[in-house]
Amino acid sequence: MTVDVNANSVSGINIKSSQNRLLIKNGKVVNDDGMEDLDVYIEDGIIKQVGRNLIIPGGTRTIDATGKLVMPGGIDPHTHLELEMMGAKTADDFYKGTRAAVAGGTTTVIDFVLPQKNQSLLEAYSNWRQLADGKVCCDYGLHVGVTWWSPSVKKEMQQLTTEQYGVNSFKMFMAYKDAWMLDDYDLSCAIETCAELKALPMVHAENGHIIARNTEKLLAAGVTGPEGHQLSRDEEVEGEAVNRACVIANQARSPLYIVHMMSKSAVRMLQLARTRQRQPLFGETLAATVGSDGSQYRNSCFRHAAAHVLSPPLRPDPSTPQAMCEALADDHLQLIGSDNCTFLEKDKELGKDNFSKIPNGVNGVEDRMAILWQKAVNTGIMDPCRFVAVTSSTAAKIFNIWPQKGRVAVNSDADIVVWDPRLERTISAATHKQAVDFNIFEGQQVVGSPQFVIVGGRVCLDDGELRVAEGFGKFLKTPTNSPAVFGGEAGAAEPQPELLHLHMPHKVTNGTPSPDFGNMNKSMEGLSVSGCSTPTGRKMREPGQRDLQTSTFSISKEVEGLDTKTSVRVRNPPGGKSSGLW
Ligand code: URP
Ligand code: ZN
Ligand code: ZN
Repeated sequence: MTVDVNANSVSGINIKSSQNRLLIKNGKVVNDDGMEDLDVYIEDGIIKQVGRNLIIPGGTRTIDATGKLVMPGGIDPHTHLELEMMGAKTADDFYKGTRAAVAGGTTTVIDFVLPQKNQSLLEAYSNWRQLADGKVCCDYGLHVGVTWWSPSVKKEMQQLTTEQYGVNSFKMFMAYKDAWMLDDYDLSCAIETCAELKALPMVHAENGHIIARNTEKLLAAGVTGPEGHQLSRDEEVEGEAVNRACVIANQARSPLYIVHMMSKSAVRMLQLARTRQRQPLFGETLAATVGSDGSQYRNSCFRHAAAHVLSPPLRPDPSTPQAMCEALADDHLQLIGSDNCTFLEKDKELGKDNFSKIPNGVNGVEDRMAILWQKAVNTGIMDPCRFVAVTSSTAAKIFNIWPQKGRVAVNSDADIVVWDPRLERTISAATHKQAVDFNIFEGQQVVGSPQFVIVGGRVCLDDGELRVAEGFGKFLKTPTNSPAVFGGEAGAAEPQPELLHLHMPHKVTNGTPSPDFGNMNKSMEGLSVSGCSTPTGRKMREPGQRDLQTSTFSISKEVEGLDTKTSVRVRNPPGGKSSGLW
């Protein structure tokens, strides 16, 4: 293990025991199901005590979190670190990428192994492990791409889901024709295999054939600039593929996770599919969608416009960013990733004369949490509990690493962010920790950022000072048959729909402490929200509870009210299952 050059203290594995102890005092602990004023005591990388008036050994370092929120470290379910695609290699490798993640409050990333066509999945997986294991500054997991189909791929999928490899999710592409795209037959085979293995299929939903045809037409008409990228793949092209992916998953009786959902049309199609399908359908959106928009493609500077090229693209409809925040708040979407896939200016220039050759991808691993906080929490769209759900806990549940990750509770990993909701800063490539030379959120002011980030008990962001250690992170195995996805116990013949939903509320009201909040040794019982659940897993409004549609959450009130109001319990959104399309 090497220590970051900026580090002025070495606190790797062989540190003295007193340095393995940490107390976070006077903060407000926020989990996905409630928040309460509690102290957190950490020893040897694990949360050992949560409560008040804790008895702590002498010599323990104390972090005063007065006025701060103490949240589970973020889990970014979608990164591409050290990926080679479209003739270029991403700027952020596993060291710089995870270092940037930690700087922004993310303590676990899940990256994608993307095999070449005809390459063994196991071989690609081993390559990824070799690239990542010695470099990661925080824990990481792996999804594996199914980029071609054959009986050998099916066999390797099975092997990858064993304890030895620890993979429980596979990504299939409906776009990138002649590269990673599967046709509907092969996609069906891959999704059926996932269902057999109780692994989660993830889909990049865009119609690759239509994109290819539109690209030919645009280039023939002389449209070669980055705006052509967006024109070649409008919302309908995404919406159609979302619907098709859902139909294919339904035919396979499989749950489905749709990655990087970028448009209102896509979310609408997902909602519609939920009204008819029994298996759970999860939707992920991106920091890019929430914090930027499709007007960037019309910027006259090639570098600027090309830097925003990702697939699916940012949308020209200016109401999209807010709609995506609302979809996250209302549980129409379940999580937010970064899809961090950064390319230097010189690499983006590969597409100077042909937009279809611009390597696809943007930054976000560092700014994902601050951007969502700014756009959704500071605006009153989302409360801090829902923020924790969509940035951390829901990913932990779906990928079956909860409550080890995604929860501030006794026995959980000490992956914690001490969030200062008043910290103001301006995002810039000049100051970001990522390796890439552009930031799509350049110049945006955010209020709310991490002050301390603790990774496995180690203070890696120390009052704003980044002190990561290269190779400190571990590979995280993700077991199959996640209760959040498949319901019930291992081997259950039929999923139990009432357990499948991760409906988390988005507004808060005053209330009594959640009865189970003090019992931090939680297990999977939290998957169905405690309280009066409807048969679908949504909670019903309790007597006297405010209509949450009309309530406004104020972060300043919540934090300023620390002395008078010690706990806030999350309530359910009204409407129950399938609350309709927007
Ligand atoms: O444009 C994107 N999203 N680049 C990364 C590869 C992918 O499709 O996720
Ligand atoms: Zn994709
Ligand atoms: Zn991606």
